[in-house]
Amino acid sequence: MGSCTSKPQTSSKPQTSDKPPAKDVTSSNGSASRTRVMAEREYHNVETSTYVLPKDDQEKDRLHEQHYLIKEKFGGNLLKPEFTTQLFEKDINVLDVGCGPATWLMDLATEYPNSNFYGVDIADTFPQAIHPRNLHLQVANVLEPLPFNFKFDFIQIRLLAVAFRESEWEIAFRNIYNVLKPGGTFQVIEICPLLNTTDPEMLSIRTNMAQLLSKKQQNPDMASQLATVMEQVNFKVLYKKDIEIPLGHGTPADIAAGDSFKGVIIGMAPFMAAQMNIDVEEYKRLANKAAANMGPTKATITLWGYLGQRPSDN
Ligand SMILES: C[S@@+](CC[C@H](N)C(=O)[O-])C[C@H]1O[C@@H](n2cnc3c(N)ncnc32)[C@H](O)[C@@H]1O
Repeated sequence: MGSCTSKPQTSSKPQTSDKPPAKDVTSSNGSASRTRVMAEREYHNVETSTYVLPKDDQEKDRLHEQHYLIKEKFGGNLLKPEFTTQLFEKDINVLDVGCGPATWLMDLATEYPNSNFYGVDIADTFPQAIHPRNLHLQVANVLEPLPFNFKFDFIQIRLLAVAFRESEWEIAFRNIYNVLKPGGTFQVIEICPLLNTTDPEMLSIRTNMAQLLSKKQQNPDMASQLATVMEQVNFKVLYKKDIEIPLGHGTPADIAAGDSFKGVIIGMAPFMAAQMNIDVEEYKRLANKAAANMGPTKATITLWGYLGQRPSDN
């Protein structure tokens, strides 16, 4: 599959006039927290970031479920397991960038107790009470040099499609390259956030989402183009695969994938309502109605998986 969408027809200049209303919250120790509340959902509060999904418990639940859906679709946690599994059985260091609630890491840390697993994220959505002893999590922004004084054998980045301006992908991949060992493996799993649909209401949401992301200087079609960015940063691309996932129709997992995508468009409600110039409740009604039609109109979404390697001689 070439790309998931044609380029949105909007200006790429940044605009601030349609910012959704927000209030900052303060943590219990009195310092400014990294949380912004909009329409009763919690979002990160990193001024420089264009990420548009929440970071609250509802979103964590969605990400946990989505992890298992992706695992099923790609046949496991590792692309090309015949190549990568052997590596994990040794004592290696693994990093997940933008790990969210660390579901992928927790799954692997339990399966491979001899390896060490690290996660970074701009938002502190990490598990608090229970996590394996070989799992280490910290707040860090991949658009800045990563805070490690050693290098990793394997690094993953997964589902940051609505997190980076188009120009920032190369910065993120370069920062990852710099903490990957020569010969180390880089796994990328990304989604095109614009679904394939014929439903008029979902098409309206899709068009407005493309315009919103374009105003934020994001390219919603980036997932299909990441092999090029990997090569620009000097990764050797070893493998590329795309998967089209039915939403709301097909297997029980595909029906669950529809619910997860509904969680994405509802999670973007404050931004989307401002973009569409309607109030948040009206937007949510529209999004729920459009989501109910995903099954009958056979909507799908496309995921891309890539494996790359840092050449062993540099
Ligand atoms: C859709 S979630 C995916 C989480 C996880 N990778 C997964 O597959 O379940 C995207 C995550 O990227 C994080 N994120 C966004 N921008 C980031 C940045 N510049 N640096 C690090 N993490 C970032 C968000 O806070 C969020 O937790």
